[in-house]
Amino acid sequence: MAHFFAPCPRGLETLLADELKTAGARETRGVPGGVAFTGDWASCYRANLHSRLATRILWRIAEAPYGREEDIYRLAFSQPWETHFDVACTFRVQTTAQRSPLKSVDFVTLRVKDALCDRFRRQCGERPDVDTRAPDVRVQVFLTARECALYLDTSGAPLWQRGLRHANVGAPLKENLAAGILRLSGWRPGTPLVDPMCGSGTFLLEAACMALSRPPGLERTRFGFEALKTYQREVWQSIRHEALGAVQETRFLKLWASDKDKSAVRATRQNLRAAGLEGAAEVTERDFFDLAAPAETGILIANPPYGERMGELDRLAEDYPKMSQVLKRQFPGWRAFFLTADTRFPRLLRLKPSRKIPLMNGPLECRLYEIALVAGSNR
Ligand SMILES: C[S@@+](CC[C@H](N)C(=O)[O-])C[C@H]1O[C@@H](n2cnc3c(N)ncnc32)[C@H](O)[C@@H]1O
Repeated sequence: MAHFFAPCPRGLETLLADELKTAGARETRGVPGGVAFTGDWASCYRANLHSRLATRILWRIAEAPYGREEDIYRLAFSQPWETHFDVACTFRVQTTAQRSPLKSVDFVTLRVKDALCDRFRRQCGERPDVDTRAPDVRVQVFLTARECALYLDTSGAPLWQRGLRHANVGAPLKENLAAGILRLSGWRPGTPLVDPMCGSGTFLLEAACMALSRPPGLERTRFGFEALKTYQREVWQSIRHEALGAVQETRFLKLWASDKDKSAVRATRQNLRAAGLEGAAEVTERDFFDLAAPAETGILIANPPYGERMGELDRLAEDYPKMSQVLKRQFPGWRAFFLTADTRFPRLLRLKPSRKIPLMNGPLECRLYEIALVAGSNR
């Protein structure tokens, strides 16, 4: 059994723990910003391939208390790096710290890099090269006030990079946050889903992939675990093969996306087409104020602009009350979800949210507001 840690956007830890259990993880333990778990390599490979919520899967190779930089050097030097990866692999060290008393995170990174190279030199007579852009192996150092943990990244590039979103407009959501919001909404394949402010179409792409059992890691050509000496090629190939066999043919999935901006509509269509998902969804150029419900009931999910630009906040304050009119008239019986950093949102919308879920969108503190549009109420 190995020890792993899967970071995720804050607010999705419980859902991620469920997802990891499905992948075979044991002893899952959520902490703010991620889930620790134990498991075998098959569960690590499955988590990398199937997790829609994790940002990466890190293999914890060491953990110890520290006081000074030299304690971290010694901990890193004592690791059998040469049994983890070949000296011909390139590597990179990154450090993140929470309440660490040490002055420089960069200096910690440098000392861990030195320790790793010194260890290789002593054991193999040579050292691996550093590549900060596209390394074969990523070493992650995590410092709390008193503990230092060393991880090897089994993912490589972050898992939210699905390789599906080629065209971007505005401020697209990270795919794992969009997938998490779909899960939080309780949306299930088959339920009508509307995104009336679709931007690059992230919600739709995630929903379509969920509905067709397309694993988020299917397009990825290389995972970090392939560079490690623990790599079990046959285990990985059979997991991937099994996942491929479960993927369903594209069909109309009762997904509707629209945006008032032409370039957003173009981007969403282009992304769907590139992913082979054209026909799974209907995409139209339309203002929110001209919306009509495409079905009796369903889920509406939107990520309105945050009003970060000058003047936009005032315009949004005018738009919100009008939006509630559209929701009440056109969507009785639906449930609506809005992700926004604008705390004025529910007050200005004049509809009482039945749920308010805090979520981090990168560094931006957001809320997901759920509004139940029960026919005849909220009026
Ligand atoms: C923050 S972006 C959405 C990003 C999207 N969730 C993604 O991941 O790509 C907000 C979008 O709302 C659209 N929008 C703003 N006001 C609108 C309105 N009145 N009707 C329809 N779309 C609108 C903008 O054109 C923009 O594409």
